[in-house]
Amino acid sequence: MSDFKRASEILYAGEHVKGMDLKKPETLPIFETTAFTMNSLSELAEVTAEKGWTYSRTRNPNRAALAEAISYLEGGEASLIFASGMGAITVPLITLLQPGDRVLCNANIYGETFSTLRDILSKMGVETDFVDYLDMDAVRAAIRPETKMIYSEVVSNPTVKIADIPALAGLAHKNGAWLMVDNTFTSPFAIRPMDFGADIVINSLTKFLNGHADAMGGSMTTTAELVDRIRPYSMLIGTPGDAFSSWLILRGLRTAELRIPRQIKTAEKLAAFFAADPRISAVNHPSLATGAQKELADKLFGENGSTPMMSFVLPEDIEKIDAFMKALRFTRYAPTLGGLRTTMSHPVTSSHFSMPDAERRKIGITPGMIRLSVGLEDPDDLIADFSNALKVFG
Ligand SMILES: Cc1ncc(COP(=O)(O)O)c(C=O)c1O
Repeated sequence: MSDFKRASEILYAGEHVKGMDLKKPETLPIFETTAFTMNSLSELAEVTAEKGWTYSRTRNPNRAALAEAISYLEGGEASLIFASGMGAITVPLITLLQPGDRVLCNANIYGETFSTLRDILSKMGVETDFVDYLDMDAVRAAIRPETKMIYSEVVSNPTVKIADIPALAGLAHKNGAWLMVDNTFTSPFAIRPMDFGADIVINSLTKFLNGHADAMGGSMTTTAELVDRIRPYSMLIGTPGDAFSSWLILRGLRTAELRIPRQIKTAEKLAAFFAADPRISAVNHPSLATGAQKELADKLFGENGSTPMMSFVLPEDIEKIDAFMKALRFTRYAPTLGGLRTTMSHPVTSSHFSMPDAERRKIGITPGMIRLSVGLEDPDDLIADFSNALKVFG
């Protein structure tokens, strides 16, 4: 028994648990701690010099482990882990761009990326030119000497059209700009954008890479030099991912190679099924691409295919769309994507709500459009389920 009081002892009890020297745990434990303690100032100096563990917003073992895995998957020198995909998008832009610089961005982009560029970067004196990346002549014409960042998703949301990443990289580098690519819909299991010239690749880890719809996170992969420049901003803005989410996401990643290629194959089967149904007026998935988009798909994607994301267009009858949704056994509406289960969203009432109807229609987004994130259900079950629900349209 110690002579100290319980109020003091309870703060230290359990400190010397067997195994906490962390020799070889089968799984990296969760370092759910705000900080790491030191026994002396000389130890503090040593840990600081070797960039060891001090305060968890600065560095945390779970975040570091996840960053290493993402760098491996994306083929980059180093990565940073953020609390969300939006952190991974916003912080590099804020760090790298100066007042007077311009961003060139696909007009067909995730709504909150659009808002970040329009509402936050513009406050810093960085303006964005939004151009439809399907028209590469318009892209070339929009580049100015001040264009310091070209931004794109590999495939657009929700029309799932492929951006010409190698051509965008060529244009960026000719202009002394960076190409930043969002790989969320495609994942490094379909494409590693850095292999095609991208300088910075981000992923919303909230989606397919974690894959279980139970943690939020984001990653940014690039050179070690750019990571060193961006890390202090991430730390100061307060966006690094937390230990538990990083741990969950790394656990999800361990099985991503079993999940994502299978989800993509199921999406291809569903796309072919929808394309053959006369009640469906359009289906968007790279596996159905023709012409220049097909050439691009063949160039960019390997044997795993392109993406588990797709969209299709039903008749514009909201009551019947409601009945269709209710008739489905498996696919629920969810304002996210990339989970184990197939989910759907309705772009006109969600991601593209604020876009005028005429603008939306120009890019093929109508009230009948449904966006699908294809999950791990048996493909035949999904087809049977959709086949049954489509009966509401006669
Ligand atoms: C393509 C894309 N990029 C980035 C994000 C942002 O990710 P998060 O929600 O993890 O911040 C999303 C979210 O839906 C997305 O769809």
